[in-house]
Amino acid sequence: MSQPDQSLLTDALAAIGACADLAQLEEQRLHYLGKKGLVTRAMTGLRELAPEERSRRGGELNLIKDGIAQALTERRSTLEQEQLNQRLAGERLDVTLPGERAHTAHLHPINITRRRVAKFFTALGYQVTDGPEIESDYYNFESLNFKENHPARDMQDTFFLAESDVDGLCLLRTHTSNMQMRVMEQSKPPVRTVVMGRVYRCDSDMTHTPMFHQLECLLVDSDVSFAHLKATLTSFVRYFFEQDVAVRLRPSFFPFTEPSAEVDIQCVICAGEGCRVCKGTGWLEILGSGLVHPNVLRYGGVDPDEYSGFAFGMGLERITMLRYQIDDLRLFFANDQEFLRMFH
Ligand code: DAH
Repeated sequence: MSQPDQSLLTDALAAIGACADLAQLEEQRLHYLGKKGLVTRAMTGLRELAPEERSRRGGELNLIKDGIAQALTERRSTLEQEQLNQRLAGERLDVTLPGERAHTAHLHPINITRRRVAKFFTALGYQVTDGPEIESDYYNFESLNFKENHPARDMQDTFFLAESDVDGLCLLRTHTSNMQMRVMEQSKPPVRTVVMGRVYRCDSDMTHTPMFHQLECLLVDSDVSFAHLKATLTSFVRYFFEQDVAVRLRPSFFPFTEPSAEVDIQCVICAGEGCRVCKGTGWLEILGSGLVHPNVLRYGGVDPDEYSGFAFGMGLERITMLRYQIDDLRLFFANDQEFLRMFH
């Protein structure tokens, strides 16, 4: 090996040995073995030599190249090991620190209620549906026997749409009773349907939000009476509140039922003793109900001489608040994680 080549190798080995980190090592690799590196250039220069000289010098240069490559590999693994040792020395794992819990998604309390309601009614053979929220006057009012000048048709209660692309769709449904007619149109008795979904009213305070959820129940069959209604309601509230609650019916008025009744349940907070929630009465009003009005049956193509039915409607927020003892309705819609996480 000639003198300059000898020093090429010794210089390279010294420089590689002096590299303090991987970046410096990479610089040295390029310096010797890169495209324009010293060894590479020397190899290109071989072309100009006479054949005999070329093979001798070529052999030398190959040895140098291998020597440098090997030194680079060794230095790399030493530096990597050092780096790892340093990281391990700096890192301490304290297994006593509290872990970071990943927040997994879960159902909103209203949806928990929806599922619970659906489970009960499907077990009784009911179908569970929802329906359009943008509705016509016909389905929301007229076919439900609301007179032309009924106060519910007033702007103060109902959101009317300024204009609509589809003929007749002129309001946001004010109740899920809008589905009574649609269901009767689509099926023949016996009808057993539960509708759950959003409804809208122009109202907003501690106990009212412009959008809320309702549950509507409709049953049409032969010889349906108040006894069926009361039995269904009683078993539902017992299932839903997991308590042996009493149910009481009070005469009332709804255009689409005759006779109509408002339904109270024994206060689930104080078991009827009288408390702040039931305002000392021991009873809570939870829904409206009645036997389906003959006019409504007729609108739905059902002969009132042959069939009768019951219907009731209640707010899902209301029963959810009672079940979990929540006192502000707006919490359901404020997206407050602290509140929502309690239902995990
Ligand atoms: N739709 C009524 C409301 O929103 C509730 C209601 C009352 C529904 C009586 C019924 C019923 O099906 O029979 O206030």
